[in-house]
Amino acid sequence: MFRVDYGKPVNHDEPIVNLFTNEAVMNDSRPSATPTLPVSASVSPARRGFIRVIGSSAVIAAAVPTLPGCSAMPDAATEAWFLAGRGEETRRRLLSWAILAPNPHNLQPWTVELPADGSIVLFSDPTRTLPMTDPPSRQLTIGHGAFLELLSMAAAAEGLRAEIEPFPAGEPGPERLDARPIARVRLRRDGIRPDPLFAMAGARTTWKKPFAARAVAPEALAALQAAATRPGVAASGTQDPARVAALNDVMVRAWEIEQRTPRTWKESVDLTRVGAAEIARHRDGISLGGPLMELLRLAGQMTPEKAMDPNSTYFTSGIDRVRAWAPATGTWLWLRTAADGRVPQLEAGRAFVRLQLQAAALGLVTQPPSQVLQEYPEMRALQREFKTLVGQRAGEKVQMLVRVGHPDGKAVRSPRRALQDLIRA
Ligand SMILES: Cc1cc2nc3c(=O)[nH]c(=O)nc-3n(C[C@H](O)[C@H](O)[C@H](O)COP(=O)(O)O)c2cc1C
Repeated sequence: MFRVDYGKPVNHDEPIVNLFTNEAVMNDSRPSATPTLPVSASVSPARRGFIRVIGSSAVIAAAVPTLPGCSAMPDAATEAWFLAGRGEETRRRLLSWAILAPNPHNLQPWTVELPADGSIVLFSDPTRTLPMTDPPSRQLTIGHGAFLELLSMAAAAEGLRAEIEPFPAGEPGPERLDARPIARVRLRRDGIRPDPLFAMAGARTTWKKPFAARAVAPEALAALQAAATRPGVAASGTQDPARVAALNDVMVRAWEIEQRTPRTWKESVDLTRVGAAEIARHRDGISLGGPLMELLRLAGQMTPEKAMDPNSTYFTSGIDRVRAWAPATGTWLWLRTAADGRVPQLEAGRAFVRLQLQAAALGLVTQPPSQVLQEYPEMRALQREFKTLVGQRAGEKVQMLVRVGHPDGKAVRSPRRALQDLIRA
């Protein structure tokens, strides 16, 4: 029988590494600390390209300690990870866990009302959408599902059952979400038992770089599939080399389509936060931090214009990075719902965060490259190929595609906005 090892808790004294760049970017507990990773450490081909743009790595290493903004990220960007579970008021305390949920592009599309009847009403923030890469708001809804699952687990840890009523004012159509609530949550004390996976809520992360060259045990894949079970959601996986290679290839090609389609790529560019000051100001989106990024930013290499220019190193390093991820991926999982729809999407989000928590418990990491699942015309041909590859039947929907592996470095916490900013008056 396979035993779940709940792993080591996150060491808050260790520097936090941006997995996007493999750079130390923030250290929550030592705000004035200088990042400890040398700039020249584990230089990927993409980073080498960047370095060529501005000089030798030795020059950079010498310059970095004096650069403004190179020291730790202000605590505010990641404070949510340390405030989780604290606070006097029950609903706010439970919400402090829910906001740590995985969500597309770290948009954190949630707002909540706390009515006098003691319930929690969850809404989707209409200003936080991905109209180009997520036209039907399917991914946003999955993020809401993950939020509700963490909320429910946090409640259970306090002996409270979270009774979740999805779409209490009616279900939005398939085109987009609307102003009606995503869910109303009532809390009832009934002796519900805590879920052991909740112990990993503060350690869960999304991994955004290559995995260590070490195979995932088949038993671990089975444990992940078992953890990802929710009503109407089925988890499938493969470690078959030919199928894995085909999925790795799909991941790269889907990324290329997204990046070479200006309007879809621009959506990511607009949400990219370069350097500590920007990350701290927004506390959302895609974080590119650390000494090298600060230097490239100061050198004018990290502007939105560069990002959109197919001849720039910024642009080509994006594709190079995904190509570099692919070969080390030896395990894929996907979450399928019997039909598409808002409730299945919520359930898929609940299943996905359970999968990530189980991965953390096993000392594994995951990343859901979502490009091939996205609903825009340029992706359709590859999506058809993908459906055949995973055996998606008519009517079914693969909601999440997840690569699984061993970490090859330290995990990073992604920023979160302040809880009070999400609560509607
Ligand atoms: C529906 C959905 C789609 C996502 N798609 C991607 C993706 O394409 N690539 C990726 O690296 N992460 C993806 N993520 C993960 C988010 O980027 C991640 O959850 C967010 O940045 C917050 O980081 P954290 O999970 O480490 O807290 C997705 C998450 C969700 C829920």
